[in-house]
Amino acid sequence: MRNRVASFLLVLVSAFILAARPSGAQSKEPAKPFDLIQWNGGKFIYGVDYYPEHWNETQWESDAKMMQAASINFVRLAEFAWVKMEPVEGKFDFAWLDRALKVLNAHGIKAVLGTPTGSPPAWLYAKYPDIAAMDENGVRYRYGSRRNYCLHSPNFIAATQRIVTAMAEHYRNHPGVLGWQIDNELGDPLCYDASCRAAFQKWCRAKYKTLAALNKAWGTIFWGHTYLAWSEIPLPWNTLGKAHNPSLALDHRRSHSAATHDYLKLQVDILRKIAPTQAITHNDMGMYDGVDYSVLNKPLDFVAWDNYPMFGEDYSNSLGVGLAHDLMRGSKNNQNFMVMEQQGGLPGWNIFWGRQAAPGLYRAWAYQGVAHGADGICYFRWRTSRYGTEQYWQGVLDQDSYANARYQIVSQTGKELAKLTELLHGSKVVAPVALLVSPDSRWAFQIQPLVKDFNYNRQLGSYYGAFRRAGVNVDVVFPQGDLSGYKIIVAPSLFVVDKPLVEKLAAFVKNGGTLILSYRSGVKDENNVVTDQTLPGPLAELAGIEIHDFDPQTNQQQEVAGPDGVGRPARVWFDILTPTTAETVLSYTKGYYAGKVAMSGNRFGKGRVYYVGTELAAEAYLEGAKLEAQGAGIPLGPELPEGVEMAVREKPGKKILFLLNYTEKAQKVTLDRGYQNALTGETEPAEVQLPAFDVKILTTP
Ligand code: GAL
Repeated sequence: MRNRVASFLLVLVSAFILAARPSGAQSKEPAKPFDLIQWNGGKFIYGVDYYPEHWNETQWESDAKMMQAASINFVRLAEFAWVKMEPVEGKFDFAWLDRALKVLNAHGIKAVLGTPTGSPPAWLYAKYPDIAAMDENGVRYRYGSRRNYCLHSPNFIAATQRIVTAMAEHYRNHPGVLGWQIDNELGDPLCYDASCRAAFQKWCRAKYKTLAALNKAWGTIFWGHTYLAWSEIPLPWNTLGKAHNPSLALDHRRSHSAATHDYLKLQVDILRKIAPTQAITHNDMGMYDGVDYSVLNKPLDFVAWDNYPMFGEDYSNSLGVGLAHDLMRGSKNNQNFMVMEQQGGLPGWNIFWGRQAAPGLYRAWAYQGVAHGADGICYFRWRTSRYGTEQYWQGVLDQDSYANARYQIVSQTGKELAKLTELLHGSKVVAPVALLVSPDSRWAFQIQPLVKDFNYNRQLGSYYGAFRRAGVNVDVVFPQGDLSGYKIIVAPSLFVVDKPLVEKLAAFVKNGGTLILSYRSGVKDENNVVTDQTLPGPLAELAGIEIHDFDPQTNQQQEVAGPDGVGRPARVWFDILTPTTAETVLSYTKGYYAGKVAMSGNRFGKGRVYYVGTELAAEAYLEGAKLEAQGAGIPLGPELPEGVEMAVREKPGKKILFLLNYTEKAQKVTLDRGYQNALTGETEPAEVQLPAFDVKILTTP
C-alpha cells in the first residue's frame, strides 16, 4: 500500500510548486470602513462599562477622576437602566443620566449609550404579561434575570419603540454621546409562544411561497408530517426529544436569527432617523452561535463584542480567544472592531468561575484584541457591584474603590495605548488564509450533533490554531463573503452546502487557491436534507474522491500514516476515501479499513483540494499548516513557545508585530531581524526576550 501512497510531504509540497497562486492581493472592504479612532476624536477608545445608577451620586466625581487618571476616555452607560429612564409608562427621566454625562464629559470621557431593552422593567411585565418569552413547555418566563422577552410581542415592540425614540430624541445632539449600543448580547432565548409560532409560519410562507414547496424541501412525507395549512406548522419543540424534523429545525434557527436581526434593525432605524450623526453598534458574543453575526451586524457601523477569556484554569492557551476576535472581525468584512466588554476581573455569579489572573494577563488580553484588529477596549466593569446577581463578577475596582493591581495595570495599558495610537491608526490585520465558518452547518450540527464527541467549534479551532501557531494571520469568512483574495481557505466539516457556495469554492480553487475540507463535508443540502449523490456530494468532484463507508467511533483511537510510516493519532470520525482523481496523503493503519485512504489531495484547475476524513491531533495539523503555507508562498512566523502568540497588523510601509506571553515564565522568540520597540523607541534584537505575562509591540522603523 505504501508504494501506492504518494509521500505526505511530497504531495503537499509538489502541489504548491505546480499550482499557480493568486496574486495575494487582499480583497474586501466594499465601503469605506468605519474609523473608530477618528470617531473618538483621534483617541484610541479606552473605556469602562459604568453604571452610575448603582452608586451614590457623590461618588461620580471621584470615579471620573480615577478614570481619567487611568487614561480612560470612553464609557458605555445605561444598557440596564430602563426603569430609571422610564419609571412610569410614557414618562421619562433622563436628568440623572444628563448629570452623570456632565461629570464624565468634564473629565474627557465620552459615552456610548445602551438602549436598555435587554432588561425591561417589572412594571412592563406586570402590565403586559405577553412580553415574556415562553419556554418549550408552554410556561412563560417569570420576571427576574434579563433577556427573557419575546421578540414578536406587539406590546414589547411598542415599548421598545417608545424608549428608543425617547432616548434618541433626548441625546441626538449631545456632544458627549458618541453613539449607541443596541440592547445587550442579543440572541437568546428561543420563544415558543403563539406569536413566535405565527411568526415562524409567516417566515416559512415568505420563503417557500407554497406548502407543496415546503413539504418537498423538508421531506415531510417522513412519518407523514405533511402540512396542509400554514397554521399546522409547529415549532421544533425540544420536548419531542431529538425527533423533530431537522429541516424544520434548521429553518427555525434561521428564522430566529432573522427575527433577532429585525429586532435590532427596528432600533437602528429609529436611531438613524432621529440621531443620524451618531454611530451604532451592538455587543456580540464571539463564538456564540444562536445568530448569524454576518447578517446581524450588517445594519451596524462597526462590530463590538464581549470578551471573557477567564473561564476555567488554563489561561496560557490564547487560541480560542484569538479565533473569537477574528470571527468578530470577519463578521463585518474584516473591518476593525472594538471590545465592548473586556474582562476586568474574576468572573462569577453565585460562584466564582475562574481563578484569579496575574495582573499582566489583563494587559496581555487587551493587547491580544488590539493585535487582532480592535481599535477600542472597554473593560467590564468599572467597579464590582455591591448588589444583585453579579456581586462576584469583578470589575476593575472592587467595591471599596481601592486602586488595586488591576487598576494599576489598566492605567499602564491606557497610557501605552495613548502612545501607540498614531502607529495603530489606519492599520489592520491582513491574512492570506481564511477559515470558512458556516452558520448553517453549525446549526445543523446543533440539531444533529453527529456523535457524542463531535464539536464543530473544535474543528474550527484545530485548523485555525495550526495556522496561527505557524505564525500566519487568519481571517474568518462566511459563505456569502468574498473568497477571492486568499491563498488558502479552510472549510472544516462543511456539512450544509448549497449550489452558490459550491460554485464559489470551485472558482476559488480553479484560480489557484487551496481548499482544505474535513470530514462530513457536503453531506446536506441547504434544506438540511442528506444528498443522494455519492459523498462528499457536490464537493466530490472538487475533492477527487468518493466516500462509500465511514466509521464514527467516539471512544476509539485510530491511527493514520503517510509514506514515512509514522503513525499519527486520529479520532471521532473516520471517512474511508476512495480517490477518483485525488492522490493519497494519509491512510488508516488499523481495523478492517487499514490501508484505506484517510486524507487526499486533488489538483483541480490551477489549485488544490485536500480532504481530511478524520480528526487529527494538534501536531499533525501544525505540520500540515506549515507545509501548506510554505507551499503557497506564505511566510511562516518564528517558532513560538507554548503560550506565546504573535499577531501582526499592518498599514502602508509599516508592520506592527505583537508578541504576547500568556505564561508565567520568561520566554524568548527569535525573529527574522531586529525591530523597533514601539513603546520604548529602542531597537530590540532579533532574539526578543518576553518576561512572564508580558507583551512586546514591535514595528518596522
Ligand atoms: C456579559 C453581559 C454583562 C455582564 C457580564 C458579566 O455577558 O453583557 O452585562 O452581565 O456578562 O456577567
